Amino acid sequence: MTQHVYRHGLLMIMPLALLAGSATALGADQDQLERGAYIARTADCTACHTTDEDKPFAGGLAMPTPMGDIYSTNITPDPDTGIGGYSLEEFTRVLREGVARDGHRLYPAMPYTAYTKMPDEDIQALYTWFQEGVEPVHQENRESDIPWPLNMRWPLAVWNWAFVDTGAYEPRDDKSDEWNRGAYLVQGPTHCGTCHTPRGLAMQEKASDDTGKGFLSGADLGGWHAFNITSDHNSGIGGWSDDEVFSYLKTGAAHGKGQAAGPMGEAVEHSLRYMSDEDIRAIVTYLRDVPAVNDGDEMPRYGHEGQGSDASRLRGQDSSDGQHTGENATDGAALYLGNCATCHQADGSGSPDGYYPSLVHNSVVGTSHSDNLTQVILNGVHRANNDGEIFMPAFRDQLSDEQISALASYVQTQFGDPDAKGVDVGRVKEIRDDTP
Ligand code: HEC
Ligand code: HEC
Ligand code: HEC
Repeated sequence: MTQHVYRHGLLMIMPLALLAGSATALGADQDQLERGAYIARTADCTACHTTDEDKPFAGGLAMPTPMGDIYSTNITPDPDTGIGGYSLEEFTRVLREGVARDGHRLYPAMPYTAYTKMPDEDIQALYTWFQEGVEPVHQENRESDIPWPLNMRWPLAVWNWAFVDTGAYEPRDDKSDEWNRGAYLVQGPTHCGTCHTPRGLAMQEKASDDTGKGFLSGADLGGWHAFNITSDHNSGIGGWSDDEVFSYLKTGAAHGKGQAAGPMGEAVEHSLRYMSDEDIRAIVTYLRDVPAVNDGDEMPRYGHEGQGSDASRLRGQDSSDGQHTGENATDGAALYLGNCATCHQADGSGSPDGYYPSLVHNSVVGTSHSDNLTQVILNGVHRANNDGEIFMPAFRDQLSDEQISALASYVQTQFGDPDAKGVDVGRVKEIRDDTP
């Protein structure tokens, strides 16, 4: 703005006081809008509230619950179907307590359980941005598919009372500013725990911060496993360097450790990659200090050396050779050579620059939670980065459930843990049926 003014030489003809005055007024609003937009990114509101790229924040995303699907709502400033009528107080209440403007309680699929930690200034900036920075879209909300009487919302008040610790994050005196910033971001807006903290019988997260047992210790979600990311060396990410965690969060990849696909890929694409380096560093600092939870692992997921390369022994041989069929391991090897080796190399080492990652020293290959490997083969990887697109094709139309089971089992034992129990065909079918 200021530059614009200078360029047109307006400075010369405008009374200086007026210019200074209007520039501050505009500057303040603009700051508030930018801050709100940044917080919306950090909190990844778009993840659940945008279904159609052309209508950002108009809602309509189906979210499965054990009782039936519920739908995210229109949070554009449209006065009739969106949140144009919300006052700042009402908006604060919905983020802190999960109570909508008309008084009905939200299902905790809306992560107000984490957003409650946001300080008033952040909620205010977010409010300004949603009211003034987002295009209004007229689109009615969809009723949930949960049948009566389960769709009654009053029990949510009890749930809230039992499980939600309402109120803004309170900094700890015994920790640095960076640690506190990280703790706030992780527990609050970036809501890592929504996916990474195991849930109890009532679907509540077992811990909402590092003082509770099991915080960030890993959880299954919709056919993926969100890994244990506590500071434990073997079960968590205690063995990753600070730079590796930083790189993973900012770009979705850390060479020799892991890559982000599925829901984590989306978190990187829509939210984490836009965050400032300082904020990501603060998250890393805090994660280092999240109490270790060990699941009995003797080695980190990424630690496995694999068995070297029997694939290179197979190379040049006819894969239909009778000697190599009939046994799953061998079928797996042939399937690997035919479908994967062009990018990941016959010995699984990937490309030197890591664009095609090594499958040796790779958490998705080395882990005993095989769902993520199955997902990646069935549905591929697609993630936008600050430097471009990351793409691995989906194999769901090329490979049968039996083939994926054989291939994944081969990849696990060859490049990961030689004693891995393999990937069950039935589970491949389930994941195939559950994903588009
Ligand atoms: C993980 C998914 C998810 C994320 C992320 C999410 N929401 Fe929601 N939100 C939902 C769902 C689902 C509902 C509807 C819940 C219900 O019907 O009980 C909802 C409802 C709401 C409502 C109530 C609107 C109404 O109908 O009156 C508001 C306001 C809202 N969200 C704002 C936000 C903001 C702001 C963010 C980011 C800071 C955000 N949401 C992030 C899932 C999400
Ligand atoms: C929407 C759900 C979701 C959210 C939110 C989320 N994660 Fe993840 N995360 C996952 C899933 C699923 C994986 C496994 C991804 C894969 O295998 O490609 C994962 C993987 C990771 C890994 C890699 C672990 C390994 O050993 O390979 C790290 C580190 C991580 N997440 C950190 C975070 C942090 C920090 C946050 C919050 C800033 C966060 N995640 C938020 C779902 C999520
Ligand atoms: C056209 C090249 C290409 C082919 C063919 C290919 N991949 Fe990939 N693969 C990639 C890329 C690119 C990534 C993502 C790297 C990233 O996330 O930074 C990837 C990632 C992976 C990952 C890590 C995913 C995660 O979430 O950590 C695994 C495991 C994997 N591929 C296995 C396979 C298997 C098995 C096959 C054969 C069915 C295969 N790939 C075929 C390019 C390919």
